[in-house]
Amino acid sequence: MKKGKVDALLGIVFGDEGKGKVVDCFTPRYDVVARFAGGPNAGHTIIFEGKKFVLRSIPSGIFDEGKINIIGNGCVIAPDLFMQEAKELEAAGYDLKSRLHISKRAHLILPTHRVLDRAYEAAKGKNKVGTTGKGIGPTYSEKASRTGLRVGDILGDFPQKYAALKARHLQILQDLHYTDFDITDEEKVWMEGIEYMRQFPLTDTEIELGKALAEGKSVLAEGAQGTMLDIDHGTYPFVSSSNTVSGGVCTGLGVAPNSIGEVFGIFKAYSTRVGSGPFPVELFDETGDKIREIGHEYGAVTGRNRRCGWLDLVALKYAIMINGVTQLIMMKSDVLDTFDTIRVCVAYQKDGVTTTDMPYDTEGWQAVYEDLPGWKTDLTQMTSESQFPQQLKDYITYIEKATATPITIVSVGPDRAQTIERK
Ligand code: GDP
Ligand code: IMO
Ligand code: MG
Repeated sequence: MKKGKVDALLGIVFGDEGKGKVVDCFTPRYDVVARFAGGPNAGHTIIFEGKKFVLRSIPSGIFDEGKINIIGNGCVIAPDLFMQEAKELEAAGYDLKSRLHISKRAHLILPTHRVLDRAYEAAKGKNKVGTTGKGIGPTYSEKASRTGLRVGDILGDFPQKYAALKARHLQILQDLHYTDFDITDEEKVWMEGIEYMRQFPLTDTEIELGKALAEGKSVLAEGAQGTMLDIDHGTYPFVSSSNTVSGGVCTGLGVAPNSIGEVFGIFKAYSTRVGSGPFPVELFDETGDKIREIGHEYGAVTGRNRRCGWLDLVALKYAIMINGVTQLIMMKSDVLDTFDTIRVCVAYQKDGVTTTDMPYDTEGWQAVYEDLPGWKTDLTQMTSESQFPQQLKDYITYIEKATATPITIVSVGPDRAQTIERK
């Protein structure tokens, strides 16, 4: 952490790497924590002192009472879900209204965006994305087509703008013959959410951040999703609709590239993916089931089974390159505690061709593995690197060598306390 810099903490695979946990751990070191992309498709889990929270739109720095948290311009926000999430935190005793600032430039997810999400997904036949159904794709599409509504719009003649956009959506749905829905109740809560949001500082967060950086304050940018779900660099079209990579920090917060400091790339000691799309390391056998069971790999937003497999170095190296990762953080190491052998995907193979570079389309590529011995030791009570079994040390060194990037933190359990910094 350097004064006057923005450090980024990014999921560098398919999301759910444990971003929420580490942002929560890091927050005491920073002045401001900011989300720059995504919306309630994210589910960030934080566990401490016997309490568990799953955050969707609110940054994971919110539990440190002294810190400003920002929902940046690159985010999309659903007022009803935001209200529900914020009220849960308020009920748990956290004061939000003075220190959670929302960008006026962030886009609003309307109830009809969620219907459109379902309608477009239904129309996709067998190429469904497996969207979380939170209206992410339609909202970002309208941002790009310059028809969306922004948070700042609620400060002006909002009812008229809302009615016009809703009418446009209803017309599209009519044209798609997707008419079997009723948003009456949802819309009522959504409007309550709009009123609730007015109680928060709705600000020009890019200016706020610019001033904070000029004063020498430090900022932590919290990623959502992961590099392989990035709209440009992920497994398109099976991706989310925003830039989840470090470039997205600049556009999604309005901070300049030369203000970026460290880029923390967070990954699990194995791989998971939720939703559809190619996944060369996917295991369809009992090993995959065992990882899912031990790792509780079920979606934090939708409860769906996460698809599981071994660590993918092709994806990891690609993400390190795209993001300029300076430090790696390895999560959920404890999930592999009981495995005799740990496999690592070192290349992809298809039609007699072997590659270590991420292909344009990963469909049909098979993983090529190297095997390493498991550590067969319970890591969950460990508090320092000196207690690590040799096989874990070797696993860490193997990944560091393959990626030419240091692993500076190893996580050995979901609790805030189960986080080991390497010297
Ligand atoms: P995020 O979206 O990147 O914030 O991650 P999620 O919260 O969706 O998923 C990570 C899951 O793993 C959550 O259930 C966490 O509580 C849990 N978790 C995080 N770190 C560890 C760890 O080191 N070990 C174990 N066993 N679970 C972890
Ligand atoms: P966090 O921040 C894992 C996946 C969905 C789907 C695809 C598109 O918790 O890591 P969308 O709703 O964005 O249109 O869905 O992206 N997806 C995620 N997978 N973690 C996430 O967020 C995700 N957000 C979206 O499952 O395949
Ligand atoms: Mg998640």
